[in-house]
Amino acid sequence: MIPDPSVKYRAFPPVHLPDRTWPDRTLTQAPIWCSVDLRDGNQALAVPMNVSQKLEMFDALVKCGFKEIEVGFPAASNTEFAFNRRLIEEKRIPDDVTIQVLVQAREDLIERTVESLLGARRVIIHLYNSTSPAQRRVVFGKSKEEIITIARQGAQLIKDRLSRLESTGTEVLLQYSPESFSATEMEFAREICEAVMEVWQPTPQRKMILNLPDTVEVAMPNVYADQIEWMCRNLKNRESVIISLHTHNDRGTGVAATELGLLAGADRVEGTLFGNGERTGNLDIVTVAMNCYMHGIAPGLDFSHINALAEMYHRTTGMTVPPRQPYAGELVFTAFSGSHQDAIKKGLAERDAGKAPPHWDVPYLTIDPADLGREYREVIRVNSQSGKGGVAFMLESEFGIDLPKDLQREFGPLANDAVDRLGREVSGSELKDMFWKEYVTRSAPWQLGHFHADGVDGVFHCRSSARHGGQEVHLTGTGNGPIAAFVQALIAAGAPVFEVGDFKQHALSAGSTASAISYLKISLPDGTARWGAGVDTNIELASIKAVLSAVNRLG
Ligand code: KIV
Ligand code: ZN
Repeated sequence: MIPDPSVKYRAFPPVHLPDRTWPDRTLTQAPIWCSVDLRDGNQALAVPMNVSQKLEMFDALVKCGFKEIEVGFPAASNTEFAFNRRLIEEKRIPDDVTIQVLVQAREDLIERTVESLLGARRVIIHLYNSTSPAQRRVVFGKSKEEIITIARQGAQLIKDRLSRLESTGTEVLLQYSPESFSATEMEFAREICEAVMEVWQPTPQRKMILNLPDTVEVAMPNVYADQIEWMCRNLKNRESVIISLHTHNDRGTGVAATELGLLAGADRVEGTLFGNGERTGNLDIVTVAMNCYMHGIAPGLDFSHINALAEMYHRTTGMTVPPRQPYAGELVFTAFSGSHQDAIKKGLAERDAGKAPPHWDVPYLTIDPADLGREYREVIRVNSQSGKGGVAFMLESEFGIDLPKDLQREFGPLANDAVDRLGREVSGSELKDMFWKEYVTRSAPWQLGHFHADGVDGVFHCRSSARHGGQEVHLTGTGNGPIAAFVQALIAAGAPVFEVGDFKQHALSAGSTASAISYLKISLPDGTARWGAGVDTNIELASIKAVLSAVNRLG
């Protein structure tokens, strides 16, 4: 990098729009969405999608609810052309879905594009040419007038072929993009758009689409919004056009530019799933749609199977969704930190208990992950940053192990130390194993042999056996219940004097192999306290095992 970047780079000139209105607006409805995955995304892949991958992607986009899908650039390659023909001939396009095709302003390309569309029910023909000073100077070496002539001629070539499509029952919608719009002088952008409108003659009843791309993101999103508002206000016949946004993400603000562009008056948004596309990608439509959703606006797109969608995306494009990608990333609904886990757990419990306010307001979760088909078990994951809340949440949600609060306080730090030593995230099963090792399967120094207790009139006699230090020990004692009788027998056989305090038990699993888990706390006269836990198909035996677990944990 150079010490003074102003020598090499300059700020992007702002649009003069002192009475801009977009900052005071709010979004109240979702735009028309158009997926450009099959074109923009495809063009940017080192290994472009083959026809079967494109078909899989097309079906997935339809399933999400896209009604406009740009399926490619049919004049660009045989694969693109063949794909269009298959969609049309195999009748794979639902009646309410319109396919869109891209073409440059050249007669041979326009001719081939029209051929690729014969027999379709409804299509959008998308014409574009580049308009920015750099493109005019470097790529085309043409004046503004000559660039307008390219656009006008392309529009006319398409218009001349409309009857061929329309006479065979195809409804055609026309779209024009001044490519590199956001880097173009606003007056010139308006002039070229109006020149195309003059050829196509849109009306409020039969609108055309004017797509205003942020082809390469060169300014802050407020500048793009100003450009969109400027066009909406200064374009002749605004009511005859659908203003469409097509942003890229070079400065990392494609989503912001789109949202501000919508405030500025746009009606339609082009983008891709998860932001695939050239360079830093296109706009991520999932994020904008879900941002609408989290503000209570029905997006008209359904991402309630987002994990499956991300898998399809990987299968077809070879790209992966980054773990921090809004809404779709593996980690975006996950808390590792103990305090965050605790807050989420309490927020979810408040909802479960029906005590939450009507609108979603759970700490750290902007939306309910279940709305995207994501599971709560993804929300709380455990590593060395996690606390007792996360450990307890995982044991309960994955195995139904409902630890008493006080036992959570005892086991949490033990689990945390063990996870810290491992130095990585642990699964629910690993946590369960830790709990089992610490409490349930402890068998030293006391190991239960057999247990028997019976009683009348509230007096129970225990006749049991255990091994202690390799020796068989007979345990006999009396109490007001089987546990009390066993405790007395154990103390009589040499265990420290203790009392049983808190006690809780619940079923672990249903069916014939159902087992129960008992949690029980013992206290010694000097104040020492330990929890124990026992598991057995016999609920009484589970409690007896819990007593021995606690005694064994005295060390
Ligand atoms: O980014 C862009 O300008 C485009 C146009 C072809 C619309 O993709
Ligand atoms: Zn683009």
